[in-house]
Amino acid sequence: MGSVIVGTGVAQPPHVVSNADLVKVMDTSDEWIQSRTGVARRRYVAPGVGSVQLAAEAVSAALNDAGVAPGEVDLLVNATMTPDMFAPGNAALVQAEVGLERICAFEIRQQCSGFVYGLELADAMLANGRATTAVVVGAEAHAGYMPFGPTSWAMLRGTHDGPADPDEYAAATDSRAWSVLFGDGAGACVLRRGEDDSGFIGGRLFSDGGSYDLIHVPGIGFSRQPYIDAAQLEAGLCIPQMKGMELFRQAVRAMPSAVTGVLDSVGLSVSDLDLVIAHQANARIVSAVGTALGLDESVVPSNIAEHGNTTAATLPILFHEQRLAGRVGSGALVAFTAFGAGAHWGASLYRVP
Ligand code: ACO
Repeated sequence: MGSVIVGTGVAQPPHVVSNADLVKVMDTSDEWIQSRTGVARRRYVAPGVGSVQLAAEAVSAALNDAGVAPGEVDLLVNATMTPDMFAPGNAALVQAEVGLERICAFEIRQQCSGFVYGLELADAMLANGRATTAVVVGAEAHAGYMPFGPTSWAMLRGTHDGPADPDEYAAATDSRAWSVLFGDGAGACVLRRGEDDSGFIGGRLFSDGGSYDLIHVPGIGFSRQPYIDAAQLEAGLCIPQMKGMELFRQAVRAMPSAVTGVLDSVGLSVSDLDLVIAHQANARIVSAVGTALGLDESVVPSNIAEHGNTTAATLPILFHEQRLAGRVGSGALVAFTAFGAGAHWGASLYRVP
């Protein structure tokens, strides 16, 4: 018996930043961003708001949707690559913020694949009786990574008309290939053990540290003494470094392969799929995943235009939206799949009860 999703919820910061807004603070264009990535707008958290607050809002919304009281939850899996603090991780902070009991709560750091890893872990702990009601949440506050100085932020928040500061503009332009992709948000699912042979029916997870430098943040690490200093900040070691095209190539191979692998493992085929909830790093990647699987684009939906890449929050936000749109009917076969930093990737197969 696989576990079943009994509720979903999301949290989205109110501050929407369009591509036209970004044009004011870096050398880019709406045309380039939309045609190369599919992103039209994204949201950024306000200073002082982090992924703990977003995660707590999404978890509360999912519990409310499920009709489950906080006191009934006995497992929280929190996925993020943008925690509020270096230590401790977000999980216990989210547990306290939501008002959960003193339960098992832990953090995973699988970036864009964090949610699919979280689903597999929660499903395993529900299956082996270690938990009865689990919440998996993915939440990101990428705004802290953004290569914007104070003048640029004031322009993006509408508190300053410009012109842009030339040094800030040049620094933001240096990071334009990755910074235009990301947005903030959170999504959560409540899981319980199922009563029949529906629910999570298979999963495959993979890692390849040999590809860690596809996208990584080299600074702030304890192989350095001290682990953070002004020189690292100055050298840009505390923001992502990305090999975009190689990441693209690996993502479009790995996700279809993970999906077909898990389908094979349970004796199903691609034609059985009703919906693929694929990681949204780039609309062209999503489209290529659909093409590789031979599926119509309606089966592999994309919401990157509205959110950008919300890393660990992507899969639950997309799943929640598809549920609201009536795309997750009883008996539907849904594949969750993601590829991201690590490299980590994988797929989970879900039969809607
Ligand atoms: N605006 C305008 N021009 C730009 C921008 C921008 N925002 N970004 C890059 N360019 C320019 C470059 O400077 C370059 O110009 P040049 O030819 O004059 O040198 C040109 O566009 C092409 O740049 P590339 O980096 O080669 O662009 P590419 O076609 O590879 O697209 C992109 C870049 C969109 C990032 C793509 O590689 C991609 O989506 N890769 C996957 C990214 C991804 O999956 N990220 C998720 C990571 S997930 C995680 O785990 C966190």
